[in-house]
Amino acid sequence: MPTQTNPNWWKEMSVYQIWPRSFADGDNDGIGDLHGVLEKLDYIQSLGVDAIWFSPLYPSPNADYGYDCADYKNIHPEYGDLDLFRQVLDGAHERGIKVILDLVINHTSDHHEWFVKSKEGPQSEYHDYYYWRKGKKPGGKKPPNNWLSVFEGGAWEYDKNLDEYYLHVFAKGQPDLNVANPKVREEVKSILRFWLDMGVDGFREDVITYIAKTEGLPNGFPLMPVGRGMEHWTSLPPVKDYLREFKEVLDEYGAFTVGEAPMMTPALAKEYITDEAGNLLNLMFHFKHMEADCILIDWVGLPFSLRKLKKAFSTWQREMYGVGWNALYIENHDHPRIIDRYGSLKYRVASGKMLAAMYILQSGTPFVYQGQEIGMTNIKLDRLDQFKDVITFNNYNLFKKIGFNEQRFVKLANRRSRENARTPVQWSGEKNGGFCDAEPWFPVNPNYPEINVAAAEADPDSLLHWYRALLNFRKENPMVIYGSYEEHYKSSRSLYVYSREHGGKRLLVICTFGEKPVQFNAPRGFDLTKAKQVFGNYAAPETQTNGFVTRPWECRVYLWE
Ligand code: GLC
Repeated sequence: MPTQTNPNWWKEMSVYQIWPRSFADGDNDGIGDLHGVLEKLDYIQSLGVDAIWFSPLYPSPNADYGYDCADYKNIHPEYGDLDLFRQVLDGAHERGIKVILDLVINHTSDHHEWFVKSKEGPQSEYHDYYYWRKGKKPGGKKPPNNWLSVFEGGAWEYDKNLDEYYLHVFAKGQPDLNVANPKVREEVKSILRFWLDMGVDGFREDVITYIAKTEGLPNGFPLMPVGRGMEHWTSLPPVKDYLREFKEVLDEYGAFTVGEAPMMTPALAKEYITDEAGNLLNLMFHFKHMEADCILIDWVGLPFSLRKLKKAFSTWQREMYGVGWNALYIENHDHPRIIDRYGSLKYRVASGKMLAAMYILQSGTPFVYQGQEIGMTNIKLDRLDQFKDVITFNNYNLFKKIGFNEQRFVKLANRRSRENARTPVQWSGEKNGGFCDAEPWFPVNPNYPEINVAAAEADPDSLLHWYRALLNFRKENPMVIYGSYEEHYKSSRSLYVYSREHGGKRLLVICTFGEKPVQFNAPRGFDLTKAKQVFGNYAAPETQTNGFVTRPWECRVYLWE
């Protein structure tokens, strides 16, 4: 485990993401909680990760399951309380695992005390904590501008008492905070101190590039069907000023930050995460490699394009090398499961292993999302009322307009909704996948008798063991962390091949996308007969040759020392 005195600890670490509601249910009420996390700390440690990122644990009315925070300095009663959180924090630290919290400051919940008080009117000091504005016509007949939310219809909600509207870029229950107000920024700093004083090691900052809005809130580009106006809230210059202010606090504690940054480009990222930019954040989550089978958002699907995927990864690898640092991920709580998207259900384990090696062996800090390490897959629900997420329902309204009936929409949601990543973690082959005896808050994937942690522990060839081996290999080989990156056979539509190099060592990663056999020949300068094969999702050949015909979703990794 990298120590705090190592300034590069956040580059060397790997991170496990917990979406608490579905991770582990310790009190058996059907909802994941911190009791469950406490019980699973040994398991998390066994993965070889160095940190846990918790999706929000704060009290929340669950309009967006914690991303609508009603109290930044507390724990959701469904998950436990501050004492229990301290136990988890200590338990993690005792195991050499750091703890990263989600910081959601673009918006609060509409149940947050600040928002409730802001509704008292302009005389309340909290009124200016939010974007309250008069409509273009009185009586709620026309909102202040034409913006549309990303999650739920128009971006303005009318309040009759005030005869004013409030802005919500996300759901109605997520009013945007006016971070331009210095008092709000003081509140943010006080939140940071509260958790850092307790011993928390850093933050994943939710949609952090959205926290500044164009002054005067002008109309947005009219043709956008959702998120209209986003050019007025995405990565505007004041975001950097605010981050600089927050960083003063974070630096006192040596805290780590990773910012979620939709629409981020490498050029723009360099304005945040390089030494030259003052390292306003350590890392940024961009979305480019999550768009290889869709247009901008998962719901607008396209056939998978390996070339798009490779281009996204390689561009960021090249652009960040030596100046910034990549956040590596292929799953989180906002996307369907990766094997369903970029891999193959028929070759679940083989393709899951290939995908894991593909991203973990790149340059950057890898994140693994709960259940990814056992190859959990999308769920198939039958009816719309089984879904829970605000985005699913918003999209139903939109897709209805273009002719989708419920049945057709449910089929789409089964492939494209982020709820696929939110089914309870399958711990065993017992009832409800061992998550709970009670009725789980969200359906457990019926494939749990086959796909579960206990089964994966017992099978030496499982994905779980493969993830452990990859994470440990990364830790033991500075080349994987610090090496250069070069892509080979860029135009191939079935192979993703790249090499890493550092300190006289080289690694070649060969990933096959698809079942079709293809002839692979080692790139010039790489002699497979002189290398050690360190990973393979099929048995290694008895004698190595300098080329081979690939098997379905085959992955091989060669090391030259
Ligand atoms: C981020 C979160 C997502 C949430 C949204 C609004 O994108 O990852 O889960 O719904 O922000 O807070």
